Amino acid sequence: MDALRVSPALLMMMMLMVMMAARCVHAYKPVVIVHGIFDGPKELDNLSGFIETMHPGTKVMVLSVDNYLESVRPLWQQVKDFREALLAIMTQNPDGIHLLCFSQGGLICRALLSTTPFHNVEMFIALSSPLAGQFGDTDYMKQVFPDSFKEILYLICYSKFGQKVSVCDYWKDPHHMSRYLKSNSFLPLINGEKPHRLMEAWRDSFLRIKKMVLIGGPDDGVITPWQSSHFGFYDQNEDVVEMRNQEFYQRDTFGLKMLDERGDVVECVISGVKHTEWHSNLMVFQTCIEKWLT
Ligand SMILES: *[C@@H]1O[C@H](CO)[C@@H](O)[C@H](O)[C@H]1NC(C)=O
Repeated sequence: MDALRVSPALLMMMMLMVMMAARCVHAYKPVVIVHGIFDGPKELDNLSGFIETMHPGTKVMVLSVDNYLESVRPLWQQVKDFREALLAIMTQNPDGIHLLCFSQGGLICRALLSTTPFHNVEMFIALSSPLAGQFGDTDYMKQVFPDSFKEILYLICYSKFGQKVSVCDYWKDPHHMSRYLKSNSFLPLINGEKPHRLMEAWRDSFLRIKKMVLIGGPDDGVITPWQSSHFGFYDQNEDVVEMRNQEFYQRDTFGLKMLDERGDVVECVISGVKHTEWHSNLMVFQTCIEKWLT
């Protein structure tokens, strides 16, 4: 009978092992953060701090790729640069990761998800990203094109030269849509507004995510229209057409409608937050982000 007696030390060890196993089950997936234009990892310190404080033990990686002035490089180039970093992280974290992308970074992430087959991204969170394009003079624009006016910017942007500047890759002038479709080599492709032979493959790849969380709001001040953060955009009269009435949604050109019908598009609209404050606002984190970082 002695053989069946469990010593207190052994019992303790067994309990510890059960607790550790339970901890593993509830371990948070690593979070990869992609910065916006004119930003680098430092600008995302507050955001990674929120995650580390609220979800202790989470591995948070802010990618240090195409930082600051390099963030105006053509977006396809940046997608390539970020993919290299992301592939290495995916290999090291085969159980899945979450992707949290700010502003222009959201477009880089959107393109990465469509053009990286077999990615293991579970949550895609786009924090105030011009996902349906940008049409507005902003401080950011003025840093790239000092004397720009939004009415004539299409002349620069929809040219070979213009397309070498990131902002032009998502510049969408609703009054010059045929030129946008013809000469913009980024956004019309990733949103499937311009048909191409990889559309099906890109759609499948994008739909590997479990959920997409869209965050933005009316007081952003940079993303124009602000609804672009939720895939809404201007029509020819500069009236905003919301996501579900967009052609790319209704024709499900890149998987948006399918994702929505699956119940996996989460919309989070918050007022009173300026563009450069989204990543530093604890209320935004707690309301729109925290619960998805599982
Ligand atoms: C971090 O948050 C603080 C407090 O809101 C703010 O003053 C600071 O500018 C933020 N840092 C960055 C890099 O945005």
